Amino acid sequence: MSAVVVRNVSKYFKKGKKEVVHAVRKISFEVEEGEIFGILGPNGSGKSTLIRMIATLLIPDEGKIEVFGHDVLKEPDTVRRLIHRVSVEASFFKKLSAYENLSFSAGVYGLSKRMALKRANELMALMGFDRARLKDPIEDFSRGMQQKVAIARAFLTRPKLLLLDEPTTGLDPRAKREVQELILHANREGSTILLSTHDMDEASRLCHRLLIVHEGRVVVQGRPIELVESLRRKYPDASLETVFLEYTGRSFEELEMEVV
Ligand SMILES: Nc1ncnc2c1ncn2[C@@H]1O[C@H](COP(=O)(O)OP(=O)(O)O)[C@@H](O)[C@H]1O
Ligand SMILES: [Mg+2]
Repeated sequence: MSAVVVRNVSKYFKKGKKEVVHAVRKISFEVEEGEIFGILGPNGSGKSTLIRMIATLLIPDEGKIEVFGHDVLKEPDTVRRLIHRVSVEASFFKKLSAYENLSFSAGVYGLSKRMALKRANELMALMGFDRARLKDPIEDFSRGMQQKVAIARAFLTRPKLLLLDEPTTGLDPRAKREVQELILHANREGSTILLSTHDMDEASRLCHRLLIVHEGRVVVQGRPIELVESLRRKYPDASLETVFLEYTGRSFEELEMEVV
């Protein structure tokens, strides 16, 4: 069964009185159960809009989305029980400790506090997080640490589908690596993962298949290795970066400039 089916989906935003932003234009793709599927694209290409529609947070203007066979418009509650989304800006009770935040979420999902603590410890250890700091308020944490707590929270309940919107953007190389390991771990434990990124290394390291989006459209999709090999005749030392440049007309350096 497909974990996600996106069929001909579009989303427009009104900007001022006349201007309309075509954030997502007739996008179609499917994510198989058990996959790590990547959405790669420059800033403003529609990645977050797409993820928010799959997460039932935005209504598509056109097209159809299903999560494990459930229509996001007709059965939003069922869909919400199967997914967990982590956005770039995770929301917490900032004055409360990481542990209090995690046990609050565990309560919402009907997990016992003891189980939640056990699982949280396990996850935080996997990300090299000093467990003594779980007692500190979130507001004292760096962005990287907050992101780790957000990810641990997402993994607490072993959701069937994890939607990770740029899970490693802004993290230092080590934290990035640790979060990537956790994503692989969650996938091995059975979660299907849909993630967005503009990090080529991350995409080739983690994703079984990916979609490159540009200005709201799918420009190419496939397995990272296939995408690279398809360009080898033209560019003998092609990498995923070459693929990205070829299809979006943007260089990796330009992208890095946008991020900082
Ligand atoms: N709530 C919104 N209102 C108006 N425009 C939006 C809104 N959300 C996104 N957009 C616009 O839609 C386009 C795609 O945005 P987004 O999905 O956030 O891209 P990405 O996540 O790839 O950076 C951008 O032009 C952005 O400005
Ligand atoms: Mg985004």
